[in-house]
Amino acid sequence: MTLVRLIYCSTPKGIGDADIADILEKSRTNNALDGITGVLVYNGTHFLQCLEGGRLTVTRRFAAIAADPRHKDVELLQVTVIPERRFPGWTMAYVGHTDIDQDIVTSYSPGPFEPQNMPFPDAIVDMLWRLAQ
Ligand SMILES: Cc1cc2nc3c(=O)[nH]c(=O)nc-3n(C[C@H](O)[C@H](O)[C@H](O)COP(=O)(O)O)c2cc1C
Repeated sequence: MTLVRLIYCSTPKGIGDADIADILEKSRTNNALDGITGVLVYNGTHFLQCLEGGRLTVTRRFAAIAADPRHKDVELLQVTVIPERRFPGWTMAYVGHTDIDQDIVTSYSPGPFEPQNMPFPDAIVDMLWRLAQ
């Protein structure tokens, strides 16, 4: 199996707590079955998500996620073959806006949280990993 990492960001559309709970429940069930791991960050204005798993599985799941009406402007930030996972223990770690450590975010991206403007995808992975701890 070819292992890949896919990172995208998007803009939430009409999201409330119940939507987040629904997304996480669905994600954790499906991802456990699919062998997908990763992390989802929601800061109120953006989603930033990393999916790791088999290439075909991640491709199919990302297609479903990208078509989800609960967000828009889905923008790919990285797709790459990886030797091993950075998030092996998480079917989908979640970092919500009240959990985000702003010091970590600003150490990677000064100013407003705009993951689409972070130039180095590997820095995004590091930031996500630190936020998920
Ligand atoms: C921001 C966001 C992140 C999502 N992440 C996942 C995910 O990691 N895994 C997943 O199965 N569904 C995820 N979803 C839900 C999918 O868009 C979709 O509803 C789901 O994959 C459909 O699963 P089903 O075919 O079992 O009904 C996410 C949705 C949004 C809006």
